Amino acid sequence: MNEIPVEIDAGTAYELPEPGWDEELVDVERGTPTGEMLRRYWHPFALSIDATDTPSEVKVLGEQLILFRDGHDRVGLMHPRCCHRGTSLYYAKVETEGIRCCYHGWLFDVEGKTLNMPCEPEGGLHLERYRQPWYPVREYHGMLFTYMGPPAHKPAFPTYDIFDHVPEGWEIVADDNNIGLEGDPTPCNWFQTHENVMDPLHVYVLHAGFSGNQFVAEMAGLPELSFHQTAQGVKSHQDRTLDDGRFFHRVTEVVMPNVRIVASPFVEFEGKATSVAWTVPISRTETKIFTILKRPIGQERRRALYNGKIWPDLSESEHQRFPGDYEAQVGQGVVTIHTEENLASSDRGVSIFRHVFRQQVRAVSNGETPIGVTNGVESRYEVRAGNYIGDREDVVHLG
Ligand code: FES
Ligand SMILES: [Fe+2]
Repeated sequence: MNEIPVEIDAGTAYELPEPGWDEELVDVERGTPTGEMLRRYWHPFALSIDATDTPSEVKVLGEQLILFRDGHDRVGLMHPRCCHRGTSLYYAKVETEGIRCCYHGWLFDVEGKTLNMPCEPEGGLHLERYRQPWYPVREYHGMLFTYMGPPAHKPAFPTYDIFDHVPEGWEIVADDNNIGLEGDPTPCNWFQTHENVMDPLHVYVLHAGFSGNQFVAEMAGLPELSFHQTAQGVKSHQDRTLDDGRFFHRVTEVVMPNVRIVASPFVEFEGKATSVAWTVPISRTETKIFTILKRPIGQERRRALYNGKIWPDLSESEHQRFPGDYEAQVGQGVVTIHTEENLASSDRGVSIFRHVFRQQVRAVSNGETPIGVTNGVESRYEVRAGNYIGDREDVVHLG
């Protein structure tokens, strides 16, 4: 009997590779190469108004910490376990000079120095021997930043030129609402959220077609793209000719490791971007975007509409039918599975960003200094991102 050959149609899900993550991209924990690289930079973690005379719990880079503000208006950020016998400082009391543990009353200042041990002779004879583990904090335009890396490598605190000048009738505001998510962390790894900034083509599909036009007509057309490495990260140029003949040169940038500078997608303001944001790993599986923005006093931030509603008001079925960034990124999984990816030519920005990011991880592992880290008290960053609109020759070189 003749056998009839059967054509095997491969590519079934049975052949999926073992799920795997690129640890170099997704790790955040202390002691991992990437966690150590991330710890060489300052990160925002709360608003200034969150630091009060009642201790509160905050989490950043997977570390649970205690935040407070003492009677001298100094902000403290502490490891939660008291250095005496481990009670959480969440139950401590804040005093003029610092924070006092509820269990045996040890008092620590905002730098963790022990000031008093009420159960010890003379209030503690060797106070200098005990230090509550702490992190330095810096306030900048209503946002609290911390440096969680090796003390010997504490870098200059970066400031941004766009906040040097505040026009008459404008204000600078710190915003922790995670870009329209009412402050709740996004339940996925930070890297898949952050690399989205170097994926400008998703705007054409996700934001301008699939779910209706979530931004404005100027943003809807397919742009001409180019990507460029900068001294501190990567930027993309998205160029379009508008219906009225003007040239729209849009520049978006990421600054290592997790700063995102994106001009308003509603193109409300022309020129340099008016905000700087940080994609902060709260933990390996939680992410929150903190933003400092400049705006006309009291002007509410314009928000994308999905089926005519803002994101928190959507029903489950509307989330499915009108997806946005949240659905696309959380839809990749808690930590996206890199072994199942197939990067294409349109992922050039993502590839370049990953490459530059990995270079910094390896630099720190090799004992070198990652880009953007400088010595001194403060450094200043000149923002490039913006919406530059006009005659082509006048705007194409900007940013
Ligand atoms: S455990 Fe904090 S003072 Fe004893
Ligand atoms: Fe997006």
